Amino acid sequence: MANGNGSFKSKPTSDTKGKTITCKAAVAYGPGEPLVVEEIIVHPPKKMEVRIKIIYTSICHTDISAWRGENEAQRAYPRILGHEACGIVESVGEGVREVKEGDIVVPIFNGECGECRSCKCEKSNMCERNGVNPMKKVMEGDGTTRFSTLQGKPIFHFLNTSTFSEYTVVDSPCLVNFLHPQLSLSLKHLTLLSCGVSTGVGAAWNTANVHSGSSVAVFGLGAVGLAVAEGARARGASKIIGVDINPDKFIKAQAMGVTDFINPKDEEKPVYEIIKNMTDGGVDYSFECTGNVDVLRDAFLSAHLGWGLTVVLGIHASPRLLPIHPMELFDGRNIVGSVFGGFKGKSQLPHFAKQCGHGVVKLDNFITHELPLEEINKAFDLLIAGKSLRCLLHF
Ligand code: APR
Ligand code: ZN
Ligand code: ZN
Repeated sequence: MANGNGSFKSKPTSDTKGKTITCKAAVAYGPGEPLVVEEIIVHPPKKMEVRIKIIYTSICHTDISAWRGENEAQRAYPRILGHEACGIVESVGEGVREVKEGDIVVPIFNGECGECRSCKCEKSNMCERNGVNPMKKVMEGDGTTRFSTLQGKPIFHFLNTSTFSEYTVVDSPCLVNFLHPQLSLSLKHLTLLSCGVSTGVGAAWNTANVHSGSSVAVFGLGAVGLAVAEGARARGASKIIGVDINPDKFIKAQAMGVTDFINPKDEEKPVYEIIKNMTDGGVDYSFECTGNVDVLRDAFLSAHLGWGLTVVLGIHASPRLLPIHPMELFDGRNIVGSVFGGFKGKSQLPHFAKQCGHGVVKLDNFITHELPLEEINKAFDLLIAGKSLRCLLHF
C-alpha cells in the first residue's frame, strides 16, 4: 500500500466489504502486561462508521499511561490501545458520505461531529458527542465493540481509535480525510498529525497564541514537548527553554528550536527560580508536557507575573489535584488545558497538514524508530526509556 517513503501507491481491494476480517493486532490483556500480537476478528462498520486499514501507527505516552492503568482510562480488557495512526478506508457503513474506499485518513481521538454546540462554536474543539473520553470502550452507535478474539470474546476500543490493529473501526466523526491529489505529506508524516505533533504545535499556536520575540519554557521534551518547541520556533519565539530530566533530549531539542536547556537533576534551586533569573522575571508562556503535577507547579511559577500563561498538555495520573493555591492566581498568571492542540480535527487538520507540507513545521526529526507491529513491546520500552520520540509501527 505504501512505498518506502510512506507515500500512497494503490488502493485496497474491496472484496472484504461487509465481511469480517481476520488480521493482526496487539491486544492488552491486563495493566502492565506485555501486549500480545495475535489474530483477531474485526467486524464490518455499522451505520456512520468506517473501517480503516492502518498503514502506520505510533506510540504516544498516553498509550503507556493507559496500558499501565495509571489514570482514569477505564480498565477494560482485553483492549486494543493506540491512537496515533494513518490509514486507508477499507469500507464504510450506512450513511457515511464524506469518505469512500481508498481515501487516506487519519483517525482522531478527539472527534468532530460538526453538529453539537462545541463543534458549532469557534471557541472549542471539545465535541460533545465524539470528543475524547477515556472511559469509553465501545462504539458510539450501538454500545458494542467491532473487535473480538477468534473465540468470539469482545475486545474493547480505546480513545475512539484503537490503532494497534491492522484494521480498526471508528465513528465517522473520528477521522480526518486527506484527499491525496492535494497531499504533500507522506503517510509517515501524516501519522504524526494524528496526536503528538498536532497536540504540541496546536498548543503553541491555538491555545497560547505564542507571539514573535516571546519567551517560552517547555517542561518535558518528548514528542509533545518538542512539537510545542517547534511550534514556538515557527512563531518566532526568541527564547525557548527546554526542561527535562533526560540530558540526551537536549541534542534533538536544539534542532527543534530549544535555545536553552535545564536538567532539574543538575540544579539545587527550584527550576522556576532558574527560569525567572534567565528571563527577567519569568516566561511569557510555559507548557507542561510530562504529566507530573510537581512539574506543573514549576511550570506555573515559571510564568511571568501579570500575564504569564501556563498550558497543560500532560495527562496527569489521578487522584492528585491542581498544585496551586487559589490566591496565587491573583498574581495574574493564567493556566489552561489544551486537548489536541485546540484543533478541530476534521475542519482544521487538512490546513495544518498543508502548512507542514510547506515546511512551516519540520516533521522529520520526530520519527526516530520504525519497527514491525510484532515488536510493539520493544517500541514501548524505547519510549519508556526516553530513547525514542515516535517509533512508527508497520504491519
Ligand atoms: N521533569 C522534567 N522532565 C520530565 C520529568 C520531570 N519530572 N518526568 C518526565 N520528564 C520528561 C521525560 O524525560 C520525557 O522526555 O518528559 C518527557 C515525556 O516525553 P514522552 O514520554 O516521550 O511523552 P509524550 O508522548 O511526549 O507525551 C507527553 O503529553 O499527551 C501527553 O500523556 C502524554 O503526559 C504525556 C505528555
Ligand atoms: Zn497521544
Ligand atoms: Zn460535536
